[in-house]
Amino acid sequence: MRETASGEKRVAVVPDSVKRLAPKKIEVSVEAGAGELSLASNDDYRALGAKVEEGIGSLVDGCDVIIKIRPPTLEEIGKLKEGSAFVSLLYPLVNKDLVKALAARKVTSISLDMIPRTTLAQMMDVLSSQATVAGYYAVLLGAFYLPRFFPMLTTAAGTIAPAKVLILGAGVAGLQAIGTARRLGAVVEANDVRKAVKEQVESLGAKFVDTNPGEDMATAGGYAKELTDEAKAKQREILARHIAKSDVVVTTALIPGRPAPKLVFADMVQSMKPGSVVVDIAAEMGGNCELTEPGKVVVKHGVTLVGEANFPSQLAVHASQMFSRNMEKLLLHFSKDGALKIDLKEEIIGGSVITHAGEVVHPKVKELM
Ligand code: NAI
Repeated sequence: MRETASGEKRVAVVPDSVKRLAPKKIEVSVEAGAGELSLASNDDYRALGAKVEEGIGSLVDGCDVIIKIRPPTLEEIGKLKEGSAFVSLLYPLVNKDLVKALAARKVTSISLDMIPRTTLAQMMDVLSSQATVAGYYAVLLGAFYLPRFFPMLTTAAGTIAPAKVLILGAGVAGLQAIGTARRLGAVVEANDVRKAVKEQVESLGAKFVDTNPGEDMATAGGYAKELTDEAKAKQREILARHIAKSDVVVTTALIPGRPAPKLVFADMVQSMKPGSVVVDIAAEMGGNCELTEPGKVVVKHGVTLVGEANFPSQLAVHASQMFSRNMEKLLLHFSKDGALKIDLKEEIIGGSVITHAGEVVHPKVKELM
């Protein structure tokens, strides 16, 4: 389906996937123009065997599964065919109205953000593939806005010291940001509240800033827990020193189901050198920096604060390609001989199917409703 959210340039399925899915008995139709902003034309899709449908009506009529990246609008749900399946990022724990509408429409909805983070599910994990894009792009933005070099340079015109980059939150996006900043020649530090991350940070050539020595704030599922007030104060005190000497701070910290934790406060921004940059990947979730303005780039206290939304969309070609690969694996996992098979007892299917046969079937979502 064509993405309708403003600024969204990605497409959920790219032409190459059409070719790879055909031998698996999965035929692809695409809404005309869906790939335009990620540089895949209608003819590119046709050339690899896809049908191109003018408008959502004929697309929905001819398909058993509809795939989109962003959550559907209520209007789009109203056009879905009863008994069909719908796949997208749905965020069902906050989008209760969408869940209700999907159940009422008797649509089997599969929420990509609810896929368990297990080894088997890794190949269909769009949170990871898109976070990889975001982490890379955030560092490029940091380098773009910084009026200095990233690498150390020894030239006839003098020696340039390398930029100091601090990454807050070293999950998928943060680790990619560390790798990218290192490749550009910066000196990199990173902080996270999960202990397992220290070794990963160091293996990428960055220094780990430990703000909660002795205590591991990881949940059994590998995500971060919210810190106690005391631990927050300790982290704040330590980070203040590191932020003050950084040229670029990239923030990626998230806690599932909660607003993004605040890690960079106004006084810390004020302590940075003029011209420094804070790139806040968590802007859409409220931001890790107190002064971030979601969707905007602003200058405060002489520091450029980048709160751009939807980082992956800016690298639409590769972000779409990775998303589409994830969708290929998902379709194969959820089907047999080209037909959809919903076995709610299976871990990945049970973990990500939200509505089925007119009911909310996901236990956690059901409880919330
Ligand atoms: P995320 O996007 O939820 O959060 C980003 C990072 O911010 C995390 O590393 C988190 O620990 C950190 N963070 C949260 N609060 C913080 C705070 N107050 N201060 C500093 N850092 C803070 O995380 P992401 O990237 O989605 O990864 C979550 C977990 O899932 C990780 O353990 C990761 O290894 C695991 N994972 C497993 C996969 C699989 O096996 N299929 C795939 C991808 C991730």
